[in-house]
Amino acid sequence: MKALIIAIDGPAAAGKGTLAVALAQHLGLPHLDTGLLYRAVGRLMLLEGRDCEGDDASDVAARLQPSDLKRDDLRLPEVDRAASLVAAQPAVRAALLQRQRDFAAAHGAVMDGRDIGTAVFPDADIKLFVTASAHARAVRRYQQYHGHDPSAAEISQLKAEIEARDHIDSARSVSPLKRAEDAILIETDDLTPDQVLARALDIVARHPKMTAENR
Ligand code: DC
Repeated sequence: MKALIIAIDGPAAAGKGTLAVALAQHLGLPHLDTGLLYRAVGRLMLLEGRDCEGDDASDVAARLQPSDLKRDDLRLPEVDRAASLVAAQPAVRAALLQRQRDFAAAHGAVMDGRDIGTAVFPDADIKLFVTASAHARAVRRYQQYHGHDPSAAEISQLKAEIEARDHIDSARSVSPLKRAEDAILIETDDLTPDQVLARALDIVARHPKMTAENR
């Protein structure tokens, strides 16, 4: 396999992560969930009692260790918010940029996040923009965190939180969440994870680097 860089961007709980893991496994590529970088910075800021909005978090970003990404307390509601706030700090994004590029340098990678196709790898071989309605994303996120279906009230609360996060991610001045012009859109509302994967594999199979290899 030639070093292939696949960028997967999109809003929270749209199915990017599930797709990225499956795609990387199918293609034998390394995978990086870049949201974990921002989650780890947010988590460490909270542990240090610092304000994720007002305090510069770039020192935390600069000293992030691989083990910080493996913490089991990164997918919690308070960390969702902390991550979103530190991700809006330009100095934090700058401190994490080279680390993300280095990850894919040797063997290529599947990377999922918000700005992979626009800022981290604007020349990625394949760019996918994975999205779904706020309602579908709220239901999925709830099931992920609680293991059962949400009530209507819980859906509406979570939907409001997801929309607030979408707003922070899309409205920030540096590397906002935005579909790259050359990204292929995949809307996952009515698709199973397997169907999303099949669609992505089909896109990958038609890429010149893959067709050249199969000749
Ligand atoms: O994908 P996630 O929910 O784990 O991301 C956590 C936060 O990090 C989210 O608010 C968006 C932000 N993020 C980002 O700004 N850029 C990325 N490449 C990945 C995540």
